Amino acid sequence: MIRFVIAVLAAMPIWASAQQFKLSSPGRKVELTITNGDFLSYRVAYKGTPVVRPSQLGFVLSKPALTLSHYTVVSVDSSSYNDVWKPLWGEVSEVRDHHKEIVIRLRSQADSRSIMLNLVFRVFDDGVGFRYEFPEQPALKHFVIQEELTQFAMVGNHQAFWIPGDYDSNEYAYNTTLLSDINAIAAANKEPDIAVKSLIGENAVQTPLMMKSADGLYVNLHEAALINFPAMHLVLNKANTTFSAQLVPDAVGNKAYLQTPAKSPWRTIIVTDKATEVLSSKLILNLNEPTQMKDVGWIKPQKFVGMWWEMHVGKASWDLASKKHGASTENVKKYIDFAARHRFDGVLVEGWNQGWEDWFGNWKENVFDFVTPYPDYDLDGLTKYANEKGVRLIMHHETSGAATNYERWMDKAFQLMNDHDMTTVKTGYVGKIIPRGEHHDGQWMVNHYQRVIEKAAAYRVMVDSHEPVHPTGLHRTFPNWLASEAARGSEFNNAPALGITPEHTTILPFTRLVGGPMDFTPGLFHFKLNQFEASRTQVVRTTLAKQLALYVTLYSPLQMAADLPENYEKHLDAFQFIVEVPVDWDETKILEAEPGDFITIARKAKNKSDWYLGAITDENSRELDLQLGFLDKDKKYEATIYRDAEDADWQTKPEAFKIEKKIVTSKSKLKIGLAKSGGCAISIKELR
Ligand code: NOJ
Ligand code: CA
Repeated sequence: MIRFVIAVLAAMPIWASAQQFKLSSPGRKVELTITNGDFLSYRVAYKGTPVVRPSQLGFVLSKPALTLSHYTVVSVDSSSYNDVWKPLWGEVSEVRDHHKEIVIRLRSQADSRSIMLNLVFRVFDDGVGFRYEFPEQPALKHFVIQEELTQFAMVGNHQAFWIPGDYDSNEYAYNTTLLSDINAIAAANKEPDIAVKSLIGENAVQTPLMMKSADGLYVNLHEAALINFPAMHLVLNKANTTFSAQLVPDAVGNKAYLQTPAKSPWRTIIVTDKATEVLSSKLILNLNEPTQMKDVGWIKPQKFVGMWWEMHVGKASWDLASKKHGASTENVKKYIDFAARHRFDGVLVEGWNQGWEDWFGNWKENVFDFVTPYPDYDLDGLTKYANEKGVRLIMHHETSGAATNYERWMDKAFQLMNDHDMTTVKTGYVGKIIPRGEHHDGQWMVNHYQRVIEKAAAYRVMVDSHEPVHPTGLHRTFPNWLASEAARGSEFNNAPALGITPEHTTILPFTRLVGGPMDFTPGLFHFKLNQFEASRTQVVRTTLAKQLALYVTLYSPLQMAADLPENYEKHLDAFQFIVEVPVDWDETKILEAEPGDFITIARKAKNKSDWYLGAITDENSRELDLQLGFLDKDKKYEATIYRDAEDADWQTKPEAFKIEKKIVTSKSKLKIGLAKSGGCAISIKELR
């Protein structure tokens, strides 16, 4: 990969006077202005319309005690960059990074120490990223951040898609309200199913935060490349619609311990007048560093089934003492057989190891050792059995929040995986982080997740993290970090309280997925969850066709077919879509999208001429008017359409679907009805 940076200092359209610096994006859609006046601030406009009003920048340090908000500009550099890079896996095979950059070197005023700080802004046609750099300097070696002063002053009382600000959980249901109506504590109080809450306050929300202005601008606030820093949450001042950064504290209240040279993550503002462009934005990925990993041939997108949902719906249990232990050799063989029959790559097995009698809520450190199977689980035998059938077991490391204990065992745990031909691990952090009471989103845990990813890479292991901090595009740098949960996933269909609403999956791509792939675990084919325990009243609030469409609309290189083999056996014709749908793509076309309402996406399979399309809707039914203009002009295709039957409805007939085949070309138009909380999935294969 060639990286070329053209320094165009003299020729840059930077206009500097009275300490004001302006920079436009390559296509001139986004304009950034940095002003060093009473205080240092930035503002952003999109096609001439203000998006961010003048907003503060800076930090309060506690050791040494300093407020960094007033500066003298020492020097300014600018450059532009335009290149294409190839992700190892992803939604597209090539990503263009086209931006302009400005670096402002500052010295803090009103302090004898005169601290040096650099501000780096990158301006893209779909937004802005900026970060702080603390260069190496005699006056600042080790320091502690008490507060980040960054603000995002919104220009109006936008509609927002938000979850409550919480240092430990991001598994909330989304709320859609005006900024003035954000009520995070009240919203969180409606969520008894979230076990560990560390709420920040009534006006605090999490990123990625999606907003829509009254005049149709889509604005998304988040961060990129979260490394050695706490995550950023946002606290809103309703009087002036201004968000302030709220860094996650450690166990004693400090935010970050740093040593120069140090960098903050990028603060990101995606802005566009088309909702579809939020979903196709590569701004966050582009702000992450290319991977340094040389040997990456072992990293593979994949699909899996697992000993999992049957525990969540009460057919089996994780622990042995319950007498309905799911992960017995016999049971797991059935999953291996099913996976082999339908050519899945992996079989996840939860509850294979000792400790589950005692794992939840009692905050003991040494519950799991990650290497000792239950006596009824024949790890060697199953490894051989899976191997013979061309399937791999997927490892499960639930830490129950004992992250330090996990670090002690990590080498042995990954060695055990190597010895048993396992290449993928699902990690988990249910509960409080012990022993110190760090938060899931604090600097210590951010570093922990990275240590796990790096250790896993040393053992050639791919990772799917559950209950981690929100992703920030680090899968570019660490491509073995295939997916994370970090939001409300399909398991919440089983939660008695708010559960998963019909609109939830139309919001996720605009929020959580802006940071990276999610292990949502779609594919539920049985809708009443009282299959094994009659007292359960929960139902899955979608149609079956929508469950299929989610494999296209919720991008991940790691997708689970979440339901039980016996539930798939009843609808093997529909299951065929899950069998065939790829997890790696050359091209992605966001055909239509509106947060909270609907999403339609077409994707071209990696190194193949076949396309797959997914369309979903919220609680409202919808008419799809598809134009297949994205297909190759010279080719003919066979489309297999998996759609809602005429009488399908998530409440009354979720399993009513139809499968139709049609010959199509790039000129074809398809009209397809989506039921209430329905969907449609189409495979479009080239006819030769
Ligand atoms: C929560 C995870 O999200 C879920 O997938 C898993 O089954 C349980 N923890 C147990 O580890
Ligand atoms: Ca979870």
